[in-house]
Amino acid sequence: MTGPATYFDPQRADVLDAETRMLVERRARVLGSAYRLFYEQPLELVRGSGTLVWDRDGTEYLDAYNNVPSVGHAHPRVVEAMAKQAAALTTHTRYLSEGIVDYSEQLLDTLPEGIDNVMYTCTGSEANDLALRIAKLVASDGQSTGQEGVIVTSNAYHGVTTEIAAISPALVGVDSLAPWVRTVDPRPDDPEHFAASVKAAISELEIVGIRPAALIVDTIFASDGVLPDLPGLVDAVAAVRTAGGLFIADEVQPGFGRLGHGMWGFERYGLDGAPLRPDLVTVGKPMGNGQPIAAVMAPHELIDRFSEQSRYFNTFGGSSVSIAAAQATLDVLRDEQLIENARDVGDYLLGGLRTLGLESRGAGLFIGAEVGPDAVAVVNRMRERRVLVSTTGPANTALKIRPPLPFSVDDADRLLTELEQSL
Ligand SMILES: Cc1ncc(COP(=O)(O)O)c(C=O)c1O
Repeated sequence: MTGPATYFDPQRADVLDAETRMLVERRARVLGSAYRLFYEQPLELVRGSGTLVWDRDGTEYLDAYNNVPSVGHAHPRVVEAMAKQAAALTTHTRYLSEGIVDYSEQLLDTLPEGIDNVMYTCTGSEANDLALRIAKLVASDGQSTGQEGVIVTSNAYHGVTTEIAAISPALVGVDSLAPWVRTVDPRPDDPEHFAASVKAAISELEIVGIRPAALIVDTIFASDGVLPDLPGLVDAVAAVRTAGGLFIADEVQPGFGRLGHGMWGFERYGLDGAPLRPDLVTVGKPMGNGQPIAAVMAPHELIDRFSEQSRYFNTFGGSSVSIAAAQATLDVLRDEQLIENARDVGDYLLGGLRTLGLESRGAGLFIGAEVGPDAVAVVNRMRERRVLVSTTGPANTALKIRPPLPFSVDDADRLLTELEQSL
């Protein structure tokens, strides 16, 4: 990460009130130094409801950042479904259960025809890890050597397992990527650039004897600065397929309706021509509204090839309580028309940000607004004014706005008022 970060600097603990400082210090002693806290003044949140959260002193904040409690903090239907299932039984996928089959059928119904199998994990990192294993096996005809190539965007983040950290420049830096990884710069302003860069990356891999296994992209390019509708993605996918690789759509951030158009980010592509159909789709974060559940979805032909090599079991992936949370989350998404809300309020907010003079881009309730080198200071000022946002982009120059989906026009107005003051 090249720009300033929105994280708390432990060297500055002396500016905190005594109670906060004590908790920060106790936390650092037991959790160690790899963990970060948001903001110059870290927040201790104790309660949430809808788009609002409260700290331990009872101060209310508008949450315009957290996409995991996607249908709203502590949504009563999700809480009830989880509590009911937890009180009955929590077990795993080695026993028959109607709940997981019902949910899987409904989830797969939202994907293009042919993507007809789903495998459950607990985190987006694990989902990407599994998707990559499948892609590598397929690319290498069942004989994966660990040298199959992967193409990612230049500031991509796909998770934390060893394999996935090695394809995540935003986490480890470009210099620490695996030798079988190539990065491509997603440039929204140049229609030819992305596909040409992917073709060049395929050639570079082939020159050193590496077969391209996959192009994986977060379809909203969240850590690359929030780029909806990147030109050239469809051509880039075609080039990867011609070279024998697969396209993995990482929907961990944009998925489940956040972009205000259908359920998935990849659906925005190829609308005028042939729709973009991924080979593998990974999902996570908002899937269980906070309960850890994630998944890989793919055509059964790919999963069959994987299963010739390997059994699959993930102790907590697809457990009964997680499935109950995911089912309730999906029900609320539909019943409360939150995708339509994301579209309408997202358009309103985007318009308001542009009226403030900010170069802003996004889709639905996933927005990046350029504020320049002071973005981190703006985020801290917003926090003082009780609105939670963060930054994104290779140099952290844009605000990342990504609230729970019940975000209302009033919430958007509150954010815009406080942002104007903070700027
Ligand atoms: C695009 C993307 N993929 C994957 C992940 C990893 O998900 P998790 O933190 O659940 O492992 C993240 C997390 O931020 C993400 O943003």
